[in-house]
Amino acid sequence: MNYKVPVIPGDGIGPEIVAEGKKVLEAAGDKHGFSIDWIEFPLGSEHYLKTGELVSEETLKELGKYKAIYLGAIGDPRIQPGVLEKGILLSMRFYFDQYVNLRPVKLLEGVWTPLKDKGPKDIDFVVVRENTEDFYIGIGSRAKAGKSHVDFEVKRALYNIKFGLDIESDSEEIGFQIGEVSKEGCKRVIKYAFDLAMKREKKVSSVDKANVLSDIYGFWREVFLNVAQEYPDVMHNFNFVDAITMWFVKNPEWFDVVVAPNMFGDIITDLGAMIQGGLGLAPGANLNPEGTSMFEPIHGSAPKYKGQNKVNPIATIWAGAMLLDHLGQPVAAANVIKAIERNLYEGKIKTYDIGGSSTTSDVGSEIARLVKTT
Ligand code: IPM
Ligand code: MN
Repeated sequence: MNYKVPVIPGDGIGPEIVAEGKKVLEAAGDKHGFSIDWIEFPLGSEHYLKTGELVSEETLKELGKYKAIYLGAIGDPRIQPGVLEKGILLSMRFYFDQYVNLRPVKLLEGVWTPLKDKGPKDIDFVVVRENTEDFYIGIGSRAKAGKSHVDFEVKRALYNIKFGLDIESDSEEIGFQIGEVSKEGCKRVIKYAFDLAMKREKKVSSVDKANVLSDIYGFWREVFLNVAQEYPDVMHNFNFVDAITMWFVKNPEWFDVVVAPNMFGDIITDLGAMIQGGLGLAPGANLNPEGTSMFEPIHGSAPKYKGQNKVNPIATIWAGAMLLDHLGQPVAAANVIKAIERNLYEGKIKTYDIGGSSTTSDVGSEIARLVKTT
């Protein structure tokens, strides 16, 4: 069996961590009887600075021929924040309609958590983050009187809504952003969460802020309730986003599958990463179950560590395990996760972020070795 997998090493530490991910997945292939041909796509800051292009329609079409993309990290301090992130990462999530962002929050044996008296039995849940809607749709503007007639009209409309007043043409500039969720968009990701819960502990927690942002998240909650009715065997509850950050810290054992709109899902998964041992250990999968999915660590490109062979490759290797599972190699995927667990449990070869001094490539090579012997 041979798989062809596009790989985007990207910026900063991206190339170093992806190299280790490839090493481990190839070792898993040797053991489980498959091979992978990597098809490199040089997207990221260098490509952008050289050509002015973020990602072309042509490249997207090409990537769209494959089931799974392996991604390192995107982001570079030479370029204004948001340009690469929105122009490449979010473009791909949207273009391929990767509506599920699956982020396991699992404390592995041997890993230190900042939560006192909590262990691997307590911290083991999955966040299902909606990945195509909400405040990420990119509709917003800055409006200033006189800039353009349209902007001024928008501003006047917003001021009318807010204060019930009309405004003078010389009043202050404003910025605004619109969030949107659709019935179908909520339904598909919430259904995904319930289906996942059927294979786990049959418990789904919804995240919203329906008490304040009631149009958008009240709608989310309504769709959630409708979907919940189709799953009478699955328990469900509602959490306001501010409250759930508190419970993740105090009682992480309450959670099994957590489903959240895009922006809240972004925020709570950084907290999730911290309680599972840090960003160096947190993987993510952007899934379109019927199309092209993309697997990446949830951390960024960490430019200050670039080229030092220092950072932790485990988040990327773990994302690689999720990629194997998605390609239909669940046994190999489980084997990679076992090897990560064993490496962490033995605690000898580890990077600085989890208290060691080994290099990125030492950790990759050790996990590749453990894949073959575990
Ligand atoms: C993430 C990141 C991205 C997001 C950024 C880089 C656009 O924070 O994957 O969580 O906000 O989704
Ligand atoms: Mn994030």
